Amino acid sequence: MNTLTSAPLAPLLNYLFELADNMAHPTNEAFRVMSDEEQNRLLQSKTDYLELYGHLKNVPLAVSRETGKLLYMLARSSKAWQSIVEFGTSFGISTLHLAAALRDNGGGKIITSEFEPGKVALARNHFADAGVSDLIEVRVGDALHTLSRDLPAAIDMLVLDGAKAIYPEILALVESHLRPWC
Ligand SMILES: C[S@@+](CC[C@H](N)C(=O)[O-])C[C@H]1O[C@@H](n2cnc3c(N)ncnc32)[C@H](O)[C@@H]1O
Repeated sequence: MNTLTSAPLAPLLNYLFELADNMAHPTNEAFRVMSDEEQNRLLQSKTDYLELYGHLKNVPLAVSRETGKLLYMLARSSKAWQSIVEFGTSFGISTLHLAAALRDNGGGKIITSEFEPGKVALARNHFADAGVSDLIEVRVGDALHTLSRDLPAAIDMLVLDGAKAIYPEILALVESHLRPWC
């Protein structure tokens, strides 16, 4: 047993994954208002991602159960105990896996970033319900700004799961803080 597989986190994740499965259906209103072409255009734009994620503000867009477990294992095996930075919080599902790993590694801090206020509020509730709020700082706003300052000197892991077109810019903000893996 570990933090990921025991209460209160395990039942909360079951509930959140079921919610995410139901909302990810292509008939969901948020997906139907956009053609595939329009989705692709917005996904590739370095400036219009606010519009894309505005349409998707009620959809979790979460990692799969398998990817969640992989994140947990990566954070545990890399001995992350100082800090993890995440781009793209949404409902907090991936963050909960990372927080479980930090808890089981003995502590540390996650800085996670999200610009949709409704998602931030939901994620904070989930962190409180899981008993991991003490490990998580949510930076609210565009990550291009919120991750451009006050980063820890040493970052163990960076998770990129926000607007894909700006991954290079986010990596450039964080890269010099990343500790080498050994
Ligand atoms: C794929 S979802 C993240 C899912 C989350 N990692 C999980 O697995 O539970 C991407 C999220 O990033 C947010 N986002 C996209 N671009 C952003 C930006 N530039 N700054 C802050 N948040 C952003 C979106 O609002 C969306 O909620």
